[in-house]
Amino acid sequence: MKTAKDYIIFPLDLPSQQSAKEYIRLLSGEVGMFKIGLELFIEAGPDIVKYTKSAGPSGIFLDLKLHDIPATVSRAMSRVAEMGVRFATVHCGENREMLKSAVEGSRGKTGVLGVTVLTSVSAEDIRTAGFREEYASHLSSLVLQRAAAVKECGCAGIVCSGLEAGKVKEKFGKDFIVITPGIRPAWAISGQQNTQNTQNTDDQKRVVTPLQAIRSGADYLVIGRPIRDAENPKSAARRVVAEITAGLPESAGGH
Ligand code: C5P
Repeated sequence: MKTAKDYIIFPLDLPSQQSAKEYIRLLSGEVGMFKIGLELFIEAGPDIVKYTKSAGPSGIFLDLKLHDIPATVSRAMSRVAEMGVRFATVHCGENREMLKSAVEGSRGKTGVLGVTVLTSVSAEDIRTAGFREEYASHLSSLVLQRAAAVKECGCAGIVCSGLEAGKVKEKFGKDFIVITPGIRPAWAISGQQNTQNTQNTDDQKRVVTPLQAIRSGADYLVIGRPIRDAENPKSAARRVVAEITAGLPESAGGH
């Protein structure tokens, strides 16, 4: 049965291989998965994936956001699948063949997640890029349109805000995986963060708590800084687990 810690994905947003390894050792088994992004993968390569696997039971989400011609994406994804990672990302781009090729390349070994619209992209960017006004003025309609392509091409799901998770689940069904960043534990929002020494300067604007995201249907939560910057990251991770456990019904791994 899925337990509270299985929901947590810890992003290894760290400046060096050495500091990433410290967090992997500290948190392996405390979180469901580690997210390895471009910065760490460029620095450390497939060895960091092997290291994470050997360190303990937590799975791996390889967030490389692939975007290329279908044949290249398929070949890259088949290398990713050989590494034994649970999820990997690919941009939606303009052409569905790329998404289908990513899924083919993964050969059912790795769940392919589509990146719909980056949260750093504004309405003005979409307009300037030549998209129709309906998408520029309603970015969420572009997210949902791309999510439909992701689903049709056989991908496992998408990454989106906890505020959109409910809409995505409603439209694409409960088996379509939804991973949500922008999560802030209740204790980090309620002003108690100083006891955990987390940073107050935070660029995530549209945040939700772990339970709000799970209740909206999120399957996994990316939680970085509230854990990474805590005085004691392991106890911060356990605090998030306790917060989730306390709010979940027993049938879903809670008390
Ligand atoms: O919890 P925190 O804000 O520190 O998490 C940051 C992580 O979430 C980064 O790895 C970032 O790539 C990821 N992320 C995000 N917003 C998105 C997609 C991913 O913050 N829309």
